[in-house]
Amino acid sequence: MTQDELKALVGQAALAHVVPGELVGVGTGSTVNHFIDALAPMKDRIAGCVSSSQASTARLLAHGIRVLEATEVQGLPVYVDGADEIDHQGFMIKGGGAALTREKIVADLAERFVCIADASKRVEVLGAFPLPVEVIEMAAAQLVRRFQALGGTAALRLKADGQPLITDNGHPLLDVRGLQITDPLALETEINQWPGVVSVGLFARHRASVCLLGTPAGVQTLVF
Ligand code: 5RP
Repeated sequence: MTQDELKALVGQAALAHVVPGELVGVGTGSTVNHFIDALAPMKDRIAGCVSSSQASTARLLAHGIRVLEATEVQGLPVYVDGADEIDHQGFMIKGGGAALTREKIVADLAERFVCIADASKRVEVLGAFPLPVEVIEMAAAQLVRRFQALGGTAALRLKADGQPLITDNGHPLLDVRGLQITDPLALETEINQWPGVVSVGLFARHRASVCLLGTPAGVQTLVF
């Protein structure tokens, strides 16, 4: 099976975690796009969705799925999202699609985080995938130095035209390479305290409750 077929498989499997009549938190990315497409036929059996990005909102609306603002809801039974890496404890790196801040906000509303990922995302130690960090622009240079002191190399994420990528929230992103993240909870806590950090794409406090991992042998369910 191709990687995209594995993503489609777990996107479909996540439907089993949707609570009928309730709201669904929806992440961002190519795996989530499969989930949104799979969700469309049951749009009349859910109360609607809370989305983590403009891209996911556009896709949900194109399917005629009701989208509510995060400000309108007090909680969600479930949040479904992909990951760039996930370890054996359900800790994740996210933000490859630049949506990490809103993803964390919507995940924080949810009782359960259902991670959907193809098997390539499962790692022993987080950090081979560059860690995304959304930052306030004026702090970018000093945050680069802070990551350097940790042994990482941080650089602004650029678009194809060479200009800095700007998130849905209007901020640039740093991608940090070269970190071996052996204590995700401690590192997330540390980075969150640095002035100028909007959010870090380390999901330790908001780790997965369950991961539906797409493998050539089928969907493997990892419970954390
Ligand atoms: C977006 C994310 C995505 O969940 C992550 O990048 C995985 O993406 P994909 O499903 O396309 O592999 O965190 O900010």
